[in-house]
Order: sequence, then structure tokens, then C-alpha cells
Amino acid sequence: MSEETSEIRDLDVEGRKSNAGLMFLTVASLLMLVAISILGYMTQIGSESLKLTPWTTFYGELHPVILHLPIGIFILVFIMEIVGLLSFGKWKPQTQFPLFLGVVGAVLAVIFGCLLIQQGDQSMDEAIWHLWGSIAFTVVGTLAFLAKIWATRSGASSPIYGILLTASIALLLWSSHIGGVMTHGTDPIETFNIAMDGGNEPAKPKVVTTAPEDRLVYEEIIVPILHGKCYGCHADADQNPLGKKKIKGKFVMTSMEDIMKGGSSGEPGVTPGDLENSTISWSIHLDIDEDEHMPPEDKDQLEAHEIAIIDWWIKEGAKTGIALKDMNAPAEITEGVAKLVPPEELLRQQAEAAAAETAEKAAEDARRAKLVEAMAVVGKDFPNALRYVSQESSDLTFTAVSMRKDFTDEGVEKLLPVAQGLVDLEIGATAVGDSGVAHLVSMSRLRRLKLNETAVTDAALDTVGKLVDLEYLNLVSTAVTDEGIMKLEGLPKLRKLYLWQSKVTKEGAAALMEKLPECEINLGLE
Ligand code: HEC
Repeated sequence: MSEETSEIRDLDVEGRKSNAGLMFLTVASLLMLVAISILGYMTQIGSESLKLTPWTTFYGELHPVILHLPIGIFILVFIMEIVGLLSFGKWKPQTQFPLFLGVVGAVLAVIFGCLLIQQGDQSMDEAIWHLWGSIAFTVVGTLAFLAKIWATRSGASSPIYGILLTASIALLLWSSHIGGVMTHGTDPIETFNIAMDGGNEPAKPKVVTTAPEDRLVYEEIIVPILHGKCYGCHADADQNPLGKKKIKGKFVMTSMEDIMKGGSSGEPGVTPGDLENSTISWSIHLDIDEDEHMPPEDKDQLEAHEIAIIDWWIKEGAKTGIALKDMNAPAEITEGVAKLVPPEELLRQQAEAAAAETAEKAAEDARRAKLVEAMAVVGKDFPNALRYVSQESSDLTFTAVSMRKDFTDEGVEKLLPVAQGLVDLEIGATAVGDSGVAHLVSMSRLRRLKLNETAVTDAALDTVGKLVDLEYLNLVSTAVTDEGIMKLEGLPKLRKLYLWQSKVTKEGAAALMEKLPECEINLGLE
């Protein structure tokens, strides 16, 4: 092992440089740092001398290619040094040359990045943060490199090098995070796409972070509006935000061609310059009560400024590929556009909603999986009495209707394995009494409970009063009293309480109603 190490050391060029050589490298590096800082500053102020040429465009494209080099190398070096530390000096990683390459890569990435910013299709705010983050990384990374070669020269271990390297890694992660968010829009988009059934990639309005007046009227203003409010019912699966093909009224809205063609009415969706002959405009102006009003009544409606923008765009010739600022828009329209939720925010919201839905579905599946065994056990005792509320849900409903008096307190106990799944328990007209109801303590998710025509008394309400999700409770024909029902006062969601033929009086019901104003108490008497 030690021979191998010394071989590696022999191969190490930097460590064997003479002091003069090191001095030269150091001065050159520092000058280079000054140079890229100046370049960064010129980029930030949009200096004329960096003006866009085909060459800057070409080199700008190299940025995403080159940037992985410094990222990979610095992380690798960091790992090597950690392993070196953990080996207590048995392994001294030779990281000078990789660091040198990493620094060169970082400098090139910064230069190409500055050229890319000249093309200006990203958010300036984020781009500038990313730029200075990357320059800071390059500066600290280069200093780390210099510290390393000087330390190697003198043969001493260098805590300064360790600090600089760690700091450079932190800067690297931070800066590349901003860079990643810039290019991929928001990270959650990935989650969003994966969440969609069958992996259909839903249509995404082009992500722009540009100022409203720089947005392309059709591509970056109209399409995002239609995407948000119309594509859900008027687009193929690959363009549909819901990820499924849905083309209502035979009207596809995802391309200009389809929009002009129109739907089942045979009328064009848009006739450039002619609002009267544009079904889109017609449909969004219909009274909301009309069947053909769009979007349908129960869906997310267009805002007044969105309607104004769509109308204005059609009236001005339904142009594509032209920016708002080149259209001489009236102030009302420019202000309306500024009010729109920017496309990238729309995407973020959609991604968030989709992610939440996926998470909820996964949680539901997990709950269902956990219930499978218990369902089988309980199902054996009570065939056909236990069911899922729906096919996707893990919520359970149980009814003892067919068992009547054969269903006893022990029966309730036998339900305990599925207690956490039960939301609806129908054990009215059975032989259940207070001791059976005591088991309901573990059924804390119950929303509906029928205990009518049973032997339950006020004692049972100690338990029932703890079922805080309860919305419906039937205590008809039981021995509960005015005093007993006051134990229900802590049930915030209770909306229906049935008490006829119990010992509860009008006064008792009124007292509870004061505590639960939203609950409808039914005494069966006028
Ligand atoms: C929830 C689903 C849904 C959404 C969202 C929706 N539509 Fe519709 N759309 C329909 C249905 C359903 C029809 C067919 C109505 C009919 O044939 O009576 C239709 C038909 C139309 C038609 C008539 C096409 C033709 O030629 O017959 C137009 C125009 C239209 N929609 C525009 C829009 C616009 C604009 C939006 C967004 C602002 C939108 N729709 C959003 C469901 C939707």
C-alpha cells in the first residue's frame, strides 16, 4: 500500500514544482480570479462590449456541458479528502491535479455562463445570483487549490485548505441549486410528470420568468391561460394538464390550427380579428347559467382580465410569435398581463397539487395494504357486513343489520383488528350495550354511528363523546338522558343527532344545541 502511495506521489507534478513555478501558478491564478470577477461585473451591468454575436451564442451553449466538470471533480476531491481523514493519515490522497482541472473547468463554466446570460432567456435575478455564486465558488475553489499545492510543497497538513475546500463545496451546492432551478423551472415538475398515470408528460406552458411586456402574446400569455382553464377538457393526453385525453365538444385547443378549426358546432374557435365569429370569445362571454358557458359552471372560471386579454388578442389578429411590447397594447391589457399568475408559478402550483395527491394516494394504499389481513379475519366472522367505502379508499363501513340481536358486545370486540379503518358503524337494533360501546374508543375515525334501539345508556356516551370525527349519531329508542348527551358537547363536527324515543327532553336538547349550534338535533316532536 505504502509503495503504491509513493508511486502516486512520484506521478504528482504539482507537488514537485519548484517554488518559482508555484509562485507563477499562484500569481496567474489570482490574476485570473480578478479577470472573471470583472467579467461577472460587466455581465451584470449588461456591458456593451459583451454584445451578442453568433459566437457568444455558440459558446453560451457550452455552459451546460462544461459545468458538470468542476461539480464532479470538486465533489470527488472532497470525498477523497474525507476518506483520507478517516484513514488517519494512512492514505494521503493526491488531489492537486484534479483540483487544477476543477479550477480550469469552473473558470470556463463561468465564462460560458456569462455568454449564456447575454442571450437573456432566463430570469435576470436568478441568473445574477447564480453568476456571483459561481464566481464565489471559483474564487474559493482556486484558493483551496493554491493552499493545497503550497501545503504539499512544505509537506505540512493544511487546515486552511480543509476550510477552503469545505466552503467551496457549500458554495458549489448553493450555486448549482439556483442554476438547476433556473433551467428546469421548478424541481417539482419532475414529481408532477411522474405522478401522471402512464407517464404521459402533460403540456407545460413554456417556462418564462420574463417581464410581462417581454412575453410572447400567444405562446406565453394566451397558452398559459388556456392551459390553466381550458386544456383540461380540450386537449390530448400529452398536452392535458390532467394527463388524460379529454376533448369535449370535439374542440382541441392546443394548437392555432385546431383552435381555428373549432369543434362540433363547425364554427371556428377563433377568427383572427373577428370576435363575433370566434366561439372561444362567444363561449366565455355567455351568462354563467348557460349550458355552453365556458369553462363549465362548476370549474375554475376565467378572471375578468383574462377574458379581456383573450378578446384583445383575437381582435388584434390572434397573432403568434410576437411579444406584448411589440403589439402596442392598451394599458388595461398590460396591467391585466401583469396580474396573471406567471406560468412558472402555475406549474409550481400544479406540481404541488399533483405531489400532494400522489402522497395521499400512497398513504391510502399503505393503509389499505395494512388492512388486508385484518379484513380477512373479520370478514370470516361477519360475511358481507364489512366493506370499503370505495374502491380506492381504505375507509371501512360495517353494518350489523342482517344480524340483529345475534350481534353482541363480543361482536364489537371482534371488529377491533379493523378499528382504525372504520368510519361508518351501523350497530342499531342489535344486542350491543354499554360494554360493547366501550370498544369504540379505538375506532377514533368514526364519522357515522348508529346505536338506535340498543341497550346503551349514558355510560356509553363517555366513549362516544371522545369520537371527535363524528358527524352523525343515532340514539333513537335508547335510555340516554339530558345529562348523558351533554357528554357530546366536545364533538365539533357533529351535524346530525337523532334522539326520539330516548329520555332526552326539549330542554336537554336545547342545552346541547347551545354548545353545538351547527348540529341539527332531532327529537321527533314538534
Ligand atoms: C370541465 C370541462 C371543460 C372545460 C374546463 C372547458 N370546456 Fe369548453 N367544452 C366543454 C364541453 C363539455 C363542451 C361541449 C358542450 C356542448 O357540446 O354542448 C365544450 C365546448 C366548448 C366550445 C364549443 C366548441 C364547438 O365548436 O362546439 C368552446 C368554444 C369551448 N368549449 C371553449 C372553452 C374554453 C375557451 C375554455 C376555457 C376557458 C373551456 N372551453 C373549458 C367542457 C369544458
